[in-house]
Amino acid sequence: MIKLAPSMLSADFAHLADCIKKVEDAGAQYLHIDVMDGVFVPNITFGAPVVKCIRPLSKMTFDVHLMITDPIKYIDDFARAGADIITFHVNSQSDVEETIAKIKSHGLKCGLAVNPDIDVELLYPYKDKIDMVLIMSVYAGFGGQSYIEDVNEKIKKAREFFGADMDVEVDGGIYAKNKDMPISYGANVLVSGTGVFGQADMGAAVKEFLK
Ligand code: DX5
Ligand code: ZN
Repeated sequence: MIKLAPSMLSADFAHLADCIKKVEDAGAQYLHIDVMDGVFVPNITFGAPVVKCIRPLSKMTFDVHLMITDPIKYIDDFARAGADIITFHVNSQSDVEETIAKIKSHGLKCGLAVNPDIDVELLYPYKDKIDMVLIMSVYAGFGGQSYIEDVNEKIKKAREFFGADMDVEVDGGIYAKNKDMPISYGANVLVSGTGVFGQADMGAAVKEFLK
């Protein structure tokens, strides 16, 4: 089954509770939460206190995408705030094995991410330790960019190597109109910011994705 993960990055933060309710009521299974530190990527978003505030509002799976320099330092905070899945980039400064272990020590699912210019084979050694691979279809840092079609082969490679049971999430430039492309290469979790929270009718956008 395809899971939709609307990215909160594109939500109207003055009406966050309302936006979250709309996408959850329409059937979105995950809420994708983009955390940026202004160093690993050239943009700053929000941290664990925001996640903690919205946690009681929703039963969706909180899919926290850490685009930060030293993720291991913040795993405890995001776990306590209510994350269900924590994903970090394989080329961050934190030790990959130790960061996976820290996420797992909280009983959470762990994802590992690669930007478009990072080889997916760097994720292979962690096959038995992770629950999700995140293939970026734009360069991490901003919403509203265009889908880079060159990553399609990387999605295919990931699906072939990691097998049917691994969640393969694709993130960036995905709309209801082009969602079938990442799916056809093997993606089963689709992140969409502009394509959901950026639409006038967010509920209709979710339904379009899931039909
Ligand atoms: C980019 C983020 C994405 C982004 C997707 O750094 O990781 O999750 O919010 O936004 P759209 O769907 O607008 O490309
Ligand atoms: Zn993301």
